[in-house]
Amino acid sequence: MTPPSTRRPVVDLTDEEARRALLLKWGTVPGDVIPAWVAEMDYALDPVVHEALRRAVGDGVTGYPVFGYTAELGEAYAGFARRHYGSRVEPEWVHPVVDVTAGVRVALDVLSDDGPVVFLVPGYSPQLDVAELTGRKRVDVVVHPDAARAEVDLDQLESLFANGARTLLLTQPHNPWGRVFSRDELAGIRDVVVRYGARVVSDEIHAPLVLPGAAHTSYLDLEGTHDHAVALVAASKAFNTAGLRCAQLLVPDPEARRLLEGQPMARNDSWSPLGVVAAVAAFSDGDPWLASLVERLDQLRTLLGELLSEHLPAVRMRPLEATYLAWLDARAHGHDDPAAVALERGRVKLGPGHDYAPGLTGHVRLNIATSPERLTEIVRRLATAWG
Ligand SMILES: Cc1ncc(COP(=O)(O)O)c(C=O)c1O
Repeated sequence: MTPPSTRRPVVDLTDEEARRALLLKWGTVPGDVIPAWVAEMDYALDPVVHEALRRAVGDGVTGYPVFGYTAELGEAYAGFARRHYGSRVEPEWVHPVVDVTAGVRVALDVLSDDGPVVFLVPGYSPQLDVAELTGRKRVDVVVHPDAARAEVDLDQLESLFANGARTLLLTQPHNPWGRVFSRDELAGIRDVVVRYGARVVSDEIHAPLVLPGAAHTSYLDLEGTHDHAVALVAASKAFNTAGLRCAQLLVPDPEARRLLEGQPMARNDSWSPLGVVAAVAAFSDGDPWLASLVERLDQLRTLLGELLSEHLPAVRMRPLEATYLAWLDARAHGHDDPAAVALERGRVKLGPGHDYAPGLTGHVRLNIATSPERLTEIVRRLATAWG
């Protein structure tokens, strides 16, 4: 734990700065719209990451990255995982990939059978299409909107494997459920997977963003998982560096590593050397900033709860145990597409629920990683828009 006295503060971007910095989130909406959709934060870079990048650009680090094992990156992530999760990661497990979703594709293409891929729905929208892009069918474990708690239904999971599914694409911590799965829940999932000789690809991109009250357990930290599982991690969600293009595929099984390393180069050669620089800086020296970020997000989650009770008491929010992405059930307001109404009448851009669960009505995803003032204004505008 980083003591408060040594922390580096989170600095809010002004609207003008955010428009210049966050091309997708802010740059694609009209000037009167507050963007609270894509998973980027309205904060300045951690100065340590900024300085590492400035130095690398100054040195002309703009050529190809090292293709294959990069000791600095492997060691930096192994240290981060040990400090934050108590995980034992060997540096040689760490394979750079361009981004998490590309890493999921590589893992499916190279390591999984051709059978269907189980996906948790609602789920991170671009990954709804990943199974099909690899020539596989997607089959869903669905959390019903009225479920008291968002959990993986082990009976549903079992029946999908019994019917031929071969891989589970697990997201944990989960976006948009906001859940951090407990070790017991993960063990239950593992037991079903092992019974069917299936594989797991565990997307753990949100692990650095676990909020006070919960703790992240990597799927790879469970006994009996190394022979059938890989995990995807990245500094990009927690340090706002998605555009620098580098995530990490963790492969504990030596045979799986050999298979990956024997692939044609064009299968996985698109990460950037600046992404490596940013990831190494964040994993090695980012703790004092990350501690401030988690504290800020914890405050924002409390503020959101208070704002909803005051202005939108009929809206239900799934408890936010991790991530800065709140999942809101606004069905009580009677709009099929509350995100469209929020944009048109409230000038707030949210993630529509049906992007995460095809056919779902009445839900939105709200990105809270902004200033308290903007979050307050967002909820005030939603209350007016949804009436
Ligand atoms: C669960 C999950 N996986 C992956 C990503 C995207 O990662 P990348 O841009 O590295 O593919 C996100 C982005 O928000 C996400 O929520």
